[in-house]
Amino acid sequence: MPLSPLPAARTTVFAPRLAALLREYTGEDAFRLEPDTMGVAGHALADRILAARRATETERPTFKPLHGRSIGRTEAAAVMRVIGRDVREALEGPLPKEVDLTGPWPLTGHLFLRDLILGGDPRRLRILMSRNLELTPKLTWSVIAAGAAVPWRKKPGTTSSGIAGLLAEADGYHDRRHAMGIYRRAAAPVCFTVSTLVANALWLGSPFDADTPNRNILHEAARLLPPSWNILRYASPEYGALDARIGAGDDVLVLPLLSHRDPALWEEPDAFRPGRWDRLDPETAPGYLPFGHSSERCWGRHMVMPLAELLLDLIRGTGLEVDPAQRKAKVPLVGLLGVEDVRLTKAARRVR
Ligand code: HEM
Repeated sequence: MPLSPLPAARTTVFAPRLAALLREYTGEDAFRLEPDTMGVAGHALADRILAARRATETERPTFKPLHGRSIGRTEAAAVMRVIGRDVREALEGPLPKEVDLTGPWPLTGHLFLRDLILGGDPRRLRILMSRNLELTPKLTWSVIAAGAAVPWRKKPGTTSSGIAGLLAEADGYHDRRHAMGIYRRAAAPVCFTVSTLVANALWLGSPFDADTPNRNILHEAARLLPPSWNILRYASPEYGALDARIGAGDDVLVLPLLSHRDPALWEEPDAFRPGRWDRLDPETAPGYLPFGHSSERCWGRHMVMPLAELLLDLIRGTGLEVDPAQRKAKVPLVGLLGVEDVRLTKAARRVR
């Protein structure tokens, strides 16, 4: 069996703008980022800002209006129930035989989840899960428009997800387009965000000690590399009243990326120490906002955690780890914060 040294320290290379934020503002309370934007990293102020009012429909990440059409709370809740059921069925059902999760992450995890949860869906929907579409909303919309041209009905004897069922039920071109847009909004994040969170965890800590619980690994990964690294609130009269540094026309960018490393809140803030979550409660730890504020936390988090744990179980159970030869990984400046290309390989026997 080949022998390899213990993996050397890894370097996370943040995009220059992210590196500058971390360097200049970690430990700060409120600071001006742009002529019309204040950054907030202090936990008490972040808490007051996010508690001051609910996110408006244009601030909501998942259910912002879709091609000009609002998505009300009732529709949003119904969609979440449908995708939630799809995820539950995937978690309860048999896993594919011979799962191989070696390869580049987060892509490998993304494709595994897509096939596990949405594997029976028609091509015109599965194509909406492409990671390439992420960067180009116009392209996404043209793929949707093309796919909506022809009705789709579920063929008897075939399996498809509940969220695909929204397309089968849609009447007419506009409703089909809307159903496909909803599919992209609600099904894609399951694969995107979970594979990103797990890739971040692998990069930060793999190989993990056998007795470290998956939950602790995920809470700690979401602390150091929070996929939702900023929470935007557009200018609002409440904010100036909370803090005089925030002007009437200022948007506010709450930055979990920074509050998660505030030295006043965290011991050894830059170290990956999953054991700290033996004592901390992720629901109440001050400044810890990976899933948003307690007044309205992420509606998807109850799907995210079990799926991420499933991936970690499969990875840890089959003896995979980050390629010891990989010493660097980039974190680009995009909405979903994560390492770009982590190589997962079969672990070699170690020299101790
Ligand atoms: C690692 C995974 C995820 C993270 C870190 C995350 C993070 C967040 C955060 C920070 C918020 C609060 C946003 C704000 O207050 O402006 C939020 C809200 C929300 N999230 Fe998530 N999320 C994740 C996965 C998902 C998934 C997979 C879904 C859906 C399938 C989802 C659906 C929602 C919804 C519906 C809201 C409420 C606001 C809205 O309508 O967009 N999230 N999430």
